[in-house]
Amino acid sequence: MPIILKSRDEISIMRESGRILAETLQLLVERLRPGLVEKELDEIVRREFRRRGVTPTFLGYLGYPATVCVSINDEIVHGIPGDREIMDGDVVSIDLGCTYKGFVADSAVTVGVGNVSPAARRLIDVTREALWRGIAVSRAGARVGEIGAAIQGYVEGEGFSVVREYVGHGVGRQMHEDPQVPNYGTPASGPVLRAGMVIAIEPMVNIGDWRTKRDPDNWTVRTIDGTLSAHFEHTLAITEGEPEVLTLP
Ligand code: MF3
Ligand code: CO
Repeated sequence: MPIILKSRDEISIMRESGRILAETLQLLVERLRPGLVEKELDEIVRREFRRRGVTPTFLGYLGYPATVCVSINDEIVHGIPGDREIMDGDVVSIDLGCTYKGFVADSAVTVGVGNVSPAARRLIDVTREALWRGIAVSRAGARVGEIGAAIQGYVEGEGFSVVREYVGHGVGRQMHEDPQVPNYGTPASGPVLRAGMVIAIEPMVNIGDWRTKRDPDNWTVRTIDGTLSAHFEHTLAITEGEPEVLTLP
């Protein structure tokens, strides 16, 4: 599949999509507390998205049953919000996507709820910083491999591991467009970034082994060794200079 360049007008719509998404994600983060039931996050998203005139991209995607992914502790991504209560000390990853006027924005954040262990705190900080290291090298003329190399080099230097089986991606009219954007690899690999490309960078970082396993629900992805995992994601537009991060509130 060819890589799609967006026009100025399309980027404007994606900017609005990204802003709405970021504001809703921030609202979810503000609601997080011990005792909150995961499903309540899904209810908030349904209400907010309806009010703001966007549709939940994840709902029904390959049969996914909710508007948002909630992945706690050793869960990496794609946790389905259910009847579980969030507990003090939990590492909670929230991944959200919306579609506005046909254009998708995709973003994720990990939050430590209440009294979080120093190891968990550092995992979250390293994963957030890894995303920003990837964003920093995303400019026209760079190869996609530079993003993964920047992320992997930093994360492994901090003693953590990068998940390989799930990657970032182009985003726009579809949630997943070309190119794939791995969070690992060598700088001299992958396609060259061009102004007008829009990509989602989304490092998933584990304290222990990088390998994953899937629950019987066929969605929830966990670390193979039960160690904690964190996930941050932004949607950004490539330009000749600094990238424009579209999923900031
Ligand atoms: N945000 C995820 C991604 O970037 C997709 C969530 S999977 C879904 O690939 F099924 F929930 F949509
Ligand atoms: Co994504």
